[in-house]
Amino acid sequence: MYLGIDLGTSSVKALLIDADQRVVGSATAPLKVSRPHPGWSEQDPNDWIAATAKALEGLQAGRPKELAAVEGIGLSGHMHGATLVDNRDVVLRPCILWNDTRSHKEAAALDANPAFRKISGNIVFPGFTAPKLAWVKNNEPEIFARVAKVLLPKDFLRLWLTGEHMSEMSDSAGTAWLDVAKRGWSDELLAATDLSESQMPTLVEGTEAAGGLRADLASKWGLRAGIPVAGGAGDNAASACGMGTVRAGQAFASLGTSGVIFAANGAYLPNPESALHTFCHALPDTWHQMGVILSATDSLNWLSGITGKDAGALTDELGETLKAPTGVTFLPYLSGERTPHNDASIRGVFAGLGHEAGRPVLTQAVLEGVAFAFRDSLEALRAAGTDLDRVTAIGGGSRSRYWLRAMATALDLPVEVPADGDFGAAFGAARLGLIAATGADPFAVCTTPKTEATIEPDRSLSAAYSDAYQRYRALYPAIRGVMG
Ligand code: XUL
Repeated sequence: MYLGIDLGTSSVKALLIDADQRVVGSATAPLKVSRPHPGWSEQDPNDWIAATAKALEGLQAGRPKELAAVEGIGLSGHMHGATLVDNRDVVLRPCILWNDTRSHKEAAALDANPAFRKISGNIVFPGFTAPKLAWVKNNEPEIFARVAKVLLPKDFLRLWLTGEHMSEMSDSAGTAWLDVAKRGWSDELLAATDLSESQMPTLVEGTEAAGGLRADLASKWGLRAGIPVAGGAGDNAASACGMGTVRAGQAFASLGTSGVIFAANGAYLPNPESALHTFCHALPDTWHQMGVILSATDSLNWLSGITGKDAGALTDELGETLKAPTGVTFLPYLSGERTPHNDASIRGVFAGLGHEAGRPVLTQAVLEGVAFAFRDSLEALRAAGTDLDRVTAIGGGSRSRYWLRAMATALDLPVEVPADGDFGAAFGAARLGLIAATGADPFAVCTTPKTEATIEPDRSLSAAYSDAYQRYRALYPAIRGVMG
């Protein structure tokens, strides 16, 4: 048995697979995000420990024998969070999360130093870790002075599980301190934020062991002490391992809280100008590119909150047949946007409202707006030299056939839907645990799931979608100047 633990933004998931990679059990425990000021997004790292313990207790209650047979653990987690600990590993402040935009000024200042794009291969986005440390230095200098280690969220869980300060390259590439081509920390970039490598965890590949399970936790859950905890991966690379998106030409589109279009690459192909992310993959000598949409299902959830109808009921109101865009356009920039704008201060928009624009029209515009945001990311991938001929859809939003049809038509690409199953980040993490424990060939382990359905673009609506995409594209430059 192998255990994958995924620290998500809204829950922790623990999932067990057997040696044939069949899922034999899973358990989750919820987490909350605190937003004490506009643009802030934080979690208490100790809540991650409590939630992980709860998920493990859930597995222990339901699958005690299987849990006891675990031979390897893999970790995955939301990326970029700044978890700061002192020299006794005590947490110094709440973790500043991936979708926190308070450090946009610091990010712009670091990004103006050409070394960052050159060495890290990426724009310094406000969500990344380095500008958060610059913000802490400017605003909480007494905390900055006590930072002994900067850990990414899942690596804080590893510290608890193993006692080790270790990380791996896929998550570390999202800090802005990594030399992504060389897969190692950059002294020059760390020095630019007054930090040094001694404050960073030791790096391994995601498929390698990075610590062994502490005896006291092992005995609590009926596990063997010292079983390897794999390096694991940031949640997107972990999902890619779960989906088998590991070779050049393979890609997935994730309609989750945030939206991601993820393409695997056999080489390092940076193109920061297009506001894409170019990160290490979790498998040795592989990289990936990623377009990130900050509010994907979060946009529909927002509409659900203000209409008092849950997201499923909103999409049900549209039926299954794709409709022509109505002229109402939605920009999904509720938390600003990464790809393609790198703009933390922009906010969402409904444009073109008429008296006839009722709830279904707004829902349709939200689904289309998110699909167009994916199209923007697809164009950014193309500009960076990656051409895709299909994508696989995952994430909560992919339960809506209407949304998948809108995606296929907006992208003008077939969208494949995997057969039922659990191919998410926890599954990918479990695969990495299996590889670390057995030494199996990562490419032989990270295979693709069966395709249940292929959603083709609706060519009868291609022209209407293309017009609507042009309206969508024109709105951002038009409104940018009037946002505060
Ligand atoms: C990726 C990113 C998000 C988080 C969400 O760059 O910020 O996908 O990892 O969990």
